[in-house]
Amino acid sequence: MSTIADVARRAGVSKMTVSRVINNSGYISPDTRERVEQAIAELGYIPNALARSLRFKQTQTIALIVTDITNPFFTTIARGVEDTASEHGFSVIFCNTDESREEEQEYVRVLIQKQIDGLLLVPARSTPDSIALLQDKTIPVVLLDRTIPGRPADTVRCDSELGAYHLVRHLIELGHRRIAVLSGPDEVTTATDRVAGWRRALLEAGLPALDDLVHYGAFSVDGGYQMARQALAGKPRPTALFTANNFIAVGAMHALREAGLRVPEDISLVTFDDLPPTMAIDPFFTAAMQPAYEMGQQATLLLLNRLEGKGPETTQELILPPQFVYRRSSGPPPPEDR
Ligand code: RIB
Repeated sequence: MSTIADVARRAGVSKMTVSRVINNSGYISPDTRERVEQAIAELGYIPNALARSLRFKQTQTIALIVTDITNPFFTTIARGVEDTASEHGFSVIFCNTDESREEEQEYVRVLIQKQIDGLLLVPARSTPDSIALLQDKTIPVVLLDRTIPGRPADTVRCDSELGAYHLVRHLIELGHRRIAVLSGPDEVTTATDRVAGWRRALLEAGLPALDDLVHYGAFSVDGGYQMARQALAGKPRPTALFTANNFIAVGAMHALREAGLRVPEDISLVTFDDLPPTMAIDPFFTAAMQPAYEMGQQATLLLLNRLEGKGPETTQELILPPQFVYRRSSGPPPPEDR
């Protein structure tokens, strides 16, 4: 059974060119068209019916829904998406839900009406409503950054549990024993996975993973400020904070400064997601950095493959490791806490 790759090889062109000839989309020189059509005839190639139907319906447009357009983590993902999509002749509609499930569902309805070819979705909550609607309409969807437990879907994400585990182990190796975790909403898998990594590091070191050290809130500066104030009220006070993203870390710093606590002399702080180098003049945070650009790139390639009717029947999950930077926000606990 000949494939689109066989035709491309026989005609000496790319698979995308063969796809455009089959679909009569985009400019193709007469000579190239003739070579491709001859290769199709010689090989007896029959385009994949599902792929053809998708291509016939194609508007050459995909959409990306993120949850916080102000966060550099998501704008970097968007950069990876847009670069990759445009290389393949696709436009991108960019939507922001402000972590709201209702906003997300409204956008999904609008995008279906606009007949997008596929969707890259950062789910605002771990609920299946949106993805169920898309899968019912046979619109290919790839989840980015977060999963929806119990609802298998093509997914590209960073390993939040592993990143959290290594950050907290770093604090334990510095001598910290009472480490609070300030995370996002407990209905978001990156938030719960980061708490899970915190718990695994403590238990592995024989330290209690006490519930009063766990704070769930918003992935925001104000969320970080509120959770840090709650954590500092703990008796005894924690000697270190693990914040689940960059905005929580910034809010926590405000609360620590307000309490007259120096970092790391009086208390250490480690975080997921650094501030981008263009914004952080003097990078300070010990951080787990997510490969946001690559996440956007890989998710887009996975989605475009689905549009071509490629890939195994089973859903694919690509989990990328974080990179770690160790800076001045983490140090040994104060002498009185050792
Ligand atoms: O800033 C939002 C956070 O939630 C990021 O760490 C990202 O992983 C997302 O899940």
